[in-house]
Amino acid sequence: MKKITAIILAALMVLSLAACAGGRGTTDNNGNNELAQNAAEKSQTQEQTSGSDITQESDSNSSDSEPASEPEGSKILVAYFSATNNTEGVAQKLADGLGADLYEIVPEQPYTDEDLDYGNSESRSSVEMNDSDSRPAISGSVENMEQYNVVLIGYPIWWGEAPRIMSTFMESYDFSGKTLAAFCTSASSGFGSSDSALREAADNAVWLDGQRFSAEDVMEWADGLGIK
Ligand SMILES: Cc1cc2nc3c(=O)[nH]c(=O)nc-3n(C[C@H](O)[C@H](O)[C@H](O)COP(=O)(O)O)c2cc1C
Repeated sequence: MKKITAIILAALMVLSLAACAGGRGTTDNNGNNELAQNAAEKSQTQEQTSGSDITQESDSNSSDSEPASEPEGSKILVAYFSATNNTEGVAQKLADGLGADLYEIVPEQPYTDEDLDYGNSESRSSVEMNDSDSRPAISGSVENMEQYNVVLIGYPIWWGEAPRIMSTFMESYDFSGKTLAAFCTSASSGFGSSDSALREAADNAVWLDGQRFSAEDVMEWADGLGIK
């Protein structure tokens, strides 16, 4: 009996060792090499487009590419701003699906309905978006940003762009060497180049393709990034 148990245990050990050897990709200490390679390959073949309709999923950039292999030990942060909770729903789903930490970018001065009135050129959102140097203050900060090697950054589209508070966020941290990707929600605009100010603020990070979402397709995108 003892002999049989010993044989079964030995067989199990061999199986688990084989599984471990086959399941990992090649990574550097930050787990970023293959992501960087994946990002570089993608950037050669893909151009982001703007103005696509809300019902259309054709601005998806990840469906035609192989998922990247999984870097070991990715620590992911989902950071988002949401004035009317649409982006918040997507961010929560994303964080749940990835087992990531969630951080809400909270304006020091909350946006009122009047502030968000895009029909009024004098409203706070209009004034901020008409001034590329506007940097609305954020209340609080991410605890120990250094611990994250992947940050997914979410926002609502405001006049085709990311709200200025996203620039405040980007300029508050050192993202060099981290892997970043943006996601957004909108009434109808596509992702377009809405992350360009964000990319500019962290041009020494590895940027993956971003996307505009409904809550349903958010995990499909995240799975395709190979960051888990
Ligand atoms: C000031 C302002 C500007 C907006 N501009 C656009 C736009 O250019 N294109 C668009 O499709 N939706 C636009 N929207 C709609 C928002 O992008 C959409 O409702 C988004 O899902 C809101 O996300 P949130 O609830 O997380 O704030 C705008 C909304 C506001 C308040």
